[in-house]
Amino acid sequence: MPTIKILPDQLTVQVKPYTTLLKAVFMAGINLPQFCGRNSSCTTCRVRLREGKQNLSLPLLQEQEVLTESGIYQTHRLACQAKIVGDVVVERPT
Ligand code: FES
Repeated sequence: MPTIKILPDQLTVQVKPYTTLLKAVFMAGINLPQFCGRNSSCTTCRVRLREGKQNLSLPLLQEQEVLTESGIYQTHRLACQAKIVGDVVVERPT
């Protein structure tokens, strides 16, 4: 099962493949803000990618657009959209 490590908390959880980052972070005991109701439009659920970018599902067009508009396309993913297929390390907003 894929492992997700969450910084700066140093929390680690194992999840089933295709679990969203949002759910994985929640399983670790952290609630990320979700102002748009997981509709890829608010970016409040964004997390910075530290390792394992290739182990996430590819972003769909709406996620690509909102991340690009925010200037964080290369470094972040929307936790409500990205699905985990392998080990990843992410940093949540503090
Ligand atoms: S909850 Fe708004 S983009 Fe994820």
